[in-house]
Amino acid sequence: MLRPTDQHSASTALPPLASDRFDVGATEDSLERLVASARECGDVFRIHAPGRGSDTWVVNNPADIKRVLVTNHRNYTKGIGLDRVRILLGNGIMTSEGDLWRRQRRMIQPMFHRKVMERFAQTIERCIDERIGRWEALAARGEPIDVTDEMSGLTLDIILRSIFGEDLDWLAERMGGNPFAVVAEHVARDLQFAYKFRSLTRLVGELAVRRRADGIERFDFLGMLLAARDKETGAPMPDRELVDEAMTLVVAGHETSAAALNWTWYLLARHPEAAARLAAELDATPERRGMSFEQSESLRYTQAVIQEAMRLYPPGWLLTRRTIAADQLSGYRVPPGTDVLLSPYLIHRHPRHWPDPEVFRPERFADAHVDPRDEWIYIPFAAGPRHCVGENFAMYEMTLHVARVARRWRLELLDPGRPLELEAAINLRTRHGLRVKLHPRH
Ligand code: HEM
Repeated sequence: MLRPTDQHSASTALPPLASDRFDVGATEDSLERLVASARECGDVFRIHAPGRGSDTWVVNNPADIKRVLVTNHRNYTKGIGLDRVRILLGNGIMTSEGDLWRRQRRMIQPMFHRKVMERFAQTIERCIDERIGRWEALAARGEPIDVTDEMSGLTLDIILRSIFGEDLDWLAERMGGNPFAVVAEHVARDLQFAYKFRSLTRLVGELAVRRRADGIERFDFLGMLLAARDKETGAPMPDRELVDEAMTLVVAGHETSAAALNWTWYLLARHPEAAARLAAELDATPERRGMSFEQSESLRYTQAVIQEAMRLYPPGWLLTRRTIAADQLSGYRVPPGTDVLLSPYLIHRHPRHWPDPEVFRPERFADAHVDPRDEWIYIPFAAGPRHCVGENFAMYEMTLHVARVARRWRLELLDPGRPLELEAAINLRTRHGLRVKLHPRH
């Protein structure tokens, strides 16, 4: 295969073509096949996608990641990823493009400022504590929990309360139960789910109208969306858009954090030495309610455990982009309209950038002097202007939860010999629920 050696050949040469042919993201075994193709071809390659009838490019080196996500990000749309989730999320910030996206991002980003996050402390802690109460009863009877289900339930409770506040009870009353239960119960993100989920938009729209009419200010995401004004025009968000944004936050804020916490508990249960260092950090810090954002960051090892879990198992394992005009990546000319994929999973396990890449070692983050994000080798929340707007919220809720639970219990996996099966759908999850036993630490 030709490799570009100078300016001239760069315009004609193409990166290697993987021997496997498949539509990345559309087949159940996409992740395994992607890993095998990267092993075969190196850091920049093409995979022929029969379903799309075109070649998809995969780039897996820091310079290209930086170019696609940051320096030349305006030349990229979200491509295939967008097609996959638009039906679910409408035209919210996750799926919009161009000027509409820029306007939405400008209005939404301030809602995730670290100082704003602290105002969610009580809401988050209440959800965590309710669950801990139930776990205490189970632990006392020696009964296990399904930590996968629990993390899904917990992150759903947290995001729903953070979006709708006390009005979640009004929604539940109207519907005779939590209308969003389908998000945790219907695990497959298929068309049937999309239909059920979208049918809730009318209900959320009604709530927005009610809130506008009563004029009471409330602190939650819906309240902030209602109060948001376009900096240039001073206009509020149109209702249709506001509902799409609220629905986007439900989906974006739930499954990703649930997967990251599920992986965190899995890895801690398998690595007693890391669990012990985590417990030591927590024992040395008094437990406090209403932890500030800064205090949560000072739990350095706790955060390192979560960061290392997201290195090995990044929930968003695949970032999809599509060129608008032609671009140059690794010296190759990428034609306009090309699907370009970046995989946090691949770059997070790249042996050139990470010593012993398969090993769980939170010390990489806890004792690091250089932030791997600055080297473009660690992108669980993506990077650049389109990086995860909810990163602060996610890190805050996950740190509060891990700290509160690991202080009280050590988790033991009930089926340690069972081979781990990955499910790389929109998010990277465990295929089966993980059952754990809770051992009190004190
Ligand atoms: C561990 C938890 C999380 C992970 C790993 C994660 C990961 C990501 C990634 C990789 C993207 C970029 C996708 C792309 O560009 O293709 C993203 C975007 C986004 N995330 Fe998160 N996320 C998490 C939690 C959250 C939470 C809690 C919220 C909201 C409360 C949230 C809201 C969003 C939104 C709205 C976007 C779209 C931003 C834009 O396009 O401007 N995420 N997330």
